Amino acid sequence: MQKPQYHFLVCNSFRLQGDPQGICNKKGAVNLLQYLEEEIIDRGINAQISSTGCMKVCDRGPVMVIYPNAWWYGELTEEKVDDILDALEDGEPVDEYSLC
Ligand code: FES
Repeated sequence: MQKPQYHFLVCNSFRLQGDPQGICNKKGAVNLLQYLEEEIIDRGINAQISSTGCMKVCDRGPVMVIYPNAWWYGELTEEKVDDILDALEDGEPVDEYSLC
């Protein structure tokens, strides 16, 4: 297996029983996952996407973290994802959307 260059963790509020019930899911994280997947493929970015449980920053959801950079982003929209991927292709974070 070849390691991906980036790993995107997207909160989808999954609970132990597998039910997505939290803030990120209610704010459209499922649709963002689909959008992100399509954009990564279209752009040819070498990345893996994982959907996660709560990342404990619910008030800033939907939330995503990009590794290995540990870039935390919140209050995501499709437009913000576009900006984040544009910057990622240049190897840069988008500070104005950063949670840290
Ligand atoms: S539900 Fe996404 S950070 Fe808590």
